[in-house]
Amino acid sequence: MNYQEAEKLLAKCSQEHVLKHWKKLNKKEREALLEQIATIDPKSVARCAEALGKGADVPDSSKGKAPKVAVLKGKKLAEARAAGEVELSEGRVAALLVAGGQGSRLGYDGPKGCYEIGPITNAPLFYFHARKILARSIRYGASIPFYVMTSEANNAATVQCFEENDYFGLNPDDVFFFTQGMWPGMSAEGKIILDQPGHIFMSPDGHGGLLAALKRSGALADMKKRGIRSVFFFQVDNPLVEIADPAFIGYHVMNKSEYSLKLCAKRDPKEKVGMPMRFGDTYRMVEYTEMTDEQCNRKDKSGKLYFLYGSPAIHVFDRAFLEREAARPMPLHLAFKKIPYVDEKGALVKPSEPNGYKFEKFIFDILPNAKTATFLAFDPKDEFSPVKNAEGADSPASCKADMQAKWRSWLKECGVTVDESVPVEIDPVYALDAEDLKENGICLGAE
Ligand code: UTP
Repeated sequence: MNYQEAEKLLAKCSQEHVLKHWKKLNKKEREALLEQIATIDPKSVARCAEALGKGADVPDSSKGKAPKVAVLKGKKLAEARAAGEVELSEGRVAALLVAGGQGSRLGYDGPKGCYEIGPITNAPLFYFHARKILARSIRYGASIPFYVMTSEANNAATVQCFEENDYFGLNPDDVFFFTQGMWPGMSAEGKIILDQPGHIFMSPDGHGGLLAALKRSGALADMKKRGIRSVFFFQVDNPLVEIADPAFIGYHVMNKSEYSLKLCAKRDPKEKVGMPMRFGDTYRMVEYTEMTDEQCNRKDKSGKLYFLYGSPAIHVFDRAFLEREAARPMPLHLAFKKIPYVDEKGALVKPSEPNGYKFEKFIFDILPNAKTATFLAFDPKDEFSPVKNAEGADSPASCKADMQAKWRSWLKECGVTVDESVPVEIDPVYALDAEDLKENGICLGAE
């Protein structure tokens, strides 16, 4: 892109000020700025500016009903598992990881997936995900292609982490990295913010940026070519997640679902999780910030919380549904943040109060468009312990404790009781569950 083209593109969305420091820039800075401008889609920028004018578009959730949530046991569980095992053995399952977030609460300098979580080995989060996928594909004799969404900020370090660790045993041909989009930050007046005279402030476009990125990168086409039908979606910060759980996949397939969600009971009425709610024939994820106190505390006849089940972002999507949704725009979510900017003279200002907007898309916003959606309950102690914060709840310490509690429970099923003071770690390729452990035997003590 040259200067004239950049001018023309910016004029289309009334953002000509982006070039106002042009004369002060050196050759390298000019090239870098033109490169950034080339990534801007004038229509999206105009949409963002328009969204600012409208304010937050929060739909009314007061008429929402609790969805029907299945709890699989006995025969039903066995049926679902068998159906999922067929799907896995026929190679129709892919794993899809969103790992483009900034991990600001954890405060770790690098992709969150590289964060060392193994209680004994210090293996990174990526290790546990990749090894589970490998174990599952060995068990069912078919590959499970692994699609990893990164951001511009962490893509190189993510790929490097996989390369340095020999892809954790996975076949590199089955691992597909793709990068999510970045969106410019905007002032309240709808003007793109420059954080250097020759640089636009950009931030990742949210996990909902997944759809556009899947399409743009060719990942969706790759899934189709490989005959994928069920896409297991998960987040990078939860090493307990049962990736491509056959019962969940099977339940999804048996119900011809387009979007299936695993849900877990809230630990307290005000827990900060999204709740899927039913509105007539469709469902929508209602964020905790949208719920009234009455909704949070409402009880059913048996005295249980009426809106009991929250979403920890463990989903299965029908591939064709993702394809359909990738072709249409998603709602925008606005976050008012402190964004560094340059003043008229080009000097950097670090604001002490929020001054600008970041824009994000959320993957669960496609839920209302699913022709069929299903909801499956699970026990968080088995599958959910995210690393969100540096300390306290949902931190590395709580996550390591939960991982070890799960492994200790498997050992107990094998007749071995391990004291809480003794660290435990199990490679998912050695054992994916207690059954595997029984079969493969237990080796006590460090080597
Ligand atoms: P979170 O909402 O927890 O955000 O992301 P985060 O960036 O990891 O952490 P904070 O909020 O800055 O502390 C949930 C999942 O969505 C992914 C994250 O990588 C994580 O797996 N995500 C989030 C993206 O892939 N892209 C984004 O733009 C945002």
